[in-house]
This record gives sequence, structure tokens and C-alpha cells, in this order.
Amino acid sequence: MHAITFGTQNAYAPLGQGTWRMGTDPSLFAQEVEILRDGIRQNLRVIDTAAMYADGGAEKVVGEAVRPQRDTVFIVTKVWPTHASYDGVLSSLKNSLERLGTDYVDLFLLHWPSAHYPLKETMRAMAAVYDKGWAKAIGVSNFNVDLLRQAQQLLGSIPLTANQVEYSLMARAAEITVIPYCQDHNMTVMAYSPIKHLNLLPHHSAERTTLKDIAAQYGVTEQTIALGWVIRHSGVIAIPKTSHKDHLLSNLRAINIHLTKEDIKRLDRVFPPSSEDLPVQRL
Ligand SMILES: NC(=O)c1ccc[n+]([C@@H]2O[C@H](COP(=O)([O-])OP(=O)(O)OC[C@H]3O[C@@H](n4cnc5c(N)ncnc54)[C@H](OP(=O)(O)O)[C@@H]3O)[C@@H](O)[C@H]2O)c1
Repeated sequence: MHAITFGTQNAYAPLGQGTWRMGTDPSLFAQEVEILRDGIRQNLRVIDTAAMYADGGAEKVVGEAVRPQRDTVFIVTKVWPTHASYDGVLSSLKNSLERLGTDYVDLFLLHWPSAHYPLKETMRAMAAVYDKGWAKAIGVSNFNVDLLRQAQQLLGSIPLTANQVEYSLMARAAEITVIPYCQDHNMTVMAYSPIKHLNLLPHHSAERTTLKDIAAQYGVTEQTIALGWVIRHSGVIAIPKTSHKDHLLSNLRAINIHLTKEDIKRLDRVFPPSSEDLPVQRL
């Protein structure tokens, strides 16, 4: 298992916990808090959330989950691109900190490239929250290599620590330039949506049959294999979201899966590499 450091002294497992759709239904609040705590007990200490998720509701779930153990958890949150002005970034993070019940986040990301504000203004604000100690590290999400270069240049001596992008067997564009660039520049790749599209594959499709077959060889689920495949790259952490204990346990097993070259070749045949680089969308 490779460790993820986010440029800190600490080492984290290459599997974290996502929170999209948490905090939308109040009747599930306690269950969602408990599953995140279960994950933390199993050493999944990187928790990904965002101001946008459930309009801040997911951050409240995270805040409650980490309350007894804030300093042992690495909290990642994000500012939505329509709030990416200088003042917008500061007030978005201030509100996030309040919902999270903490006075700092470990990593703060721009959620998507903004169609509304210049990157220069946003990065000036990211540098300000870093200098104030509200964010221990700065990163971005859904950035291609060209934008990563620009962001790092604008941040000057503050390291651009992470880029969060979609990456799974069914969405492989990040492998073309983004993952290699991040690996070369000491930037952690946070792979989002590593499972959900696979769950929609038809039962008798070649993709599912292959995954099932490989999973059976290791005595694990198809989702475990899919996650193991994502985190086979050094410097890549997968952040699956689950609200169910059995799924959490299945996801955990990915940390100790070591796929063989033959497994990878079989997966490549049914989930071919992308021919196109990660597209840039501005929101
Ligand atoms: N930066 C961005 O733009 C961006 C975009 C999307 C997501 N994200 C982040 O990445 C996280 C993960 O992405 P995601 O939530 O889109 O997708 P995901 O984690 O790939 O999939 C989540 C879905 O898979 C199910 N699931 C989880 N583990 C499973 C297992 N072992 N077996 C079967 N089903 C399983 C979950 O249901 P159960 O809850 O029932 O287990 C849920 O329906 C998000 O929660 C969010 O934190 C970031």
C-alpha cells in the first residue's frame, strides 16, 4: 500500500471517504455520522466534503463525525466556482468552518474552474486563507495540466497540494496527462466517483463479467477490484462515498489488493483507456 501525505508529515491510507448526498435527509444524519466514524476507526481519515453538498448539510455531518477527534482527521472542503471572487472565497470558507465546527481545514479546493472569476483573483484569495491558517493546504478540482500550471504560478511559494478529478475504470481521461503531471509535481490526485458508474453496468455485460471473475479470484466484490485498480497508482487516493457498513468493509479491502499485470490487461480490454484528455469545464 502506498501512503498519501498531501505534503505533510502525516501518512494517510490511499482510500478516503466521500460525502456527496450526505446531509440531505435529516432522518439519515445519525447513520451518516456513524458510518464516517466507522471509517475513521478503520483508518480512513481523509474525508472529502464541499460547501455545495446538500447546501452545507454534508459539512454538518462531517463536523459531527469528527467532533471527538478533529485533529486525527484530514478534512477537505471546497468552494463552488460561482463564489470564487476574493471575498466569496473567504466567506465561503468561513461558513464551511462554522458548519464543520473547526477553525481550520486540512485542504481547501476550488471545486471547478470558474466561468465567473479570473483564476488570479481566486488564487489570491486561496493564498489569503492559507496565510490566515484557515486552510493548511490549497488545491483545485477538475483542473487539466494547463490550468494546474497557471494555478501553481499564481500561488507562488504556496504549494498546490492536490487536484481532485473523476477517475475510474469507466472514466480514464485523467491517466493521459493529469495523473503523470501530478505525480511529477508532488501533487496528490483525489479520484472521485470511483464506483458509481460501474454499479450501473448491465449484469451480463463483458465489463461486469470480467470484473466479477477477477473479484471471485480474490474473494472480494467488484467494487473492491474497481477501487484497487484506481489506487494502483502512487499518489492517487480514491474517495468513495458510502452510507452502508457492508460497503465500507468491501471498500476497505481495496487497500490490500494488488492486481497482477494479467488482471490489468484483462480490465484494459473491456474498459479501454481514454483517447481524450480530461476536458475543462468552467462552472
Ligand atoms: N470534485 C468534484 O467535482 C466531485 C464530483 C463528484 C464527487 N466528488 C467527491 O467524491 C466522492 C465520491 O464520488 P461519488 O459519490 O460521486 O461516487 P462513488 O463514491 O463512486 O459512488 C457512490 C455510490 O456508490 C455506492 N457504493 C459505495 N460503495 C459501494 C460498494 N462497496 N458496493 C456497492 N455500491 C457502493 C454508494 O451507495 P451506498 O451509500 O449505498 O453505499 C453510492 O450510491 C463524493 O462523495 C464527493 O465527496 C467530487
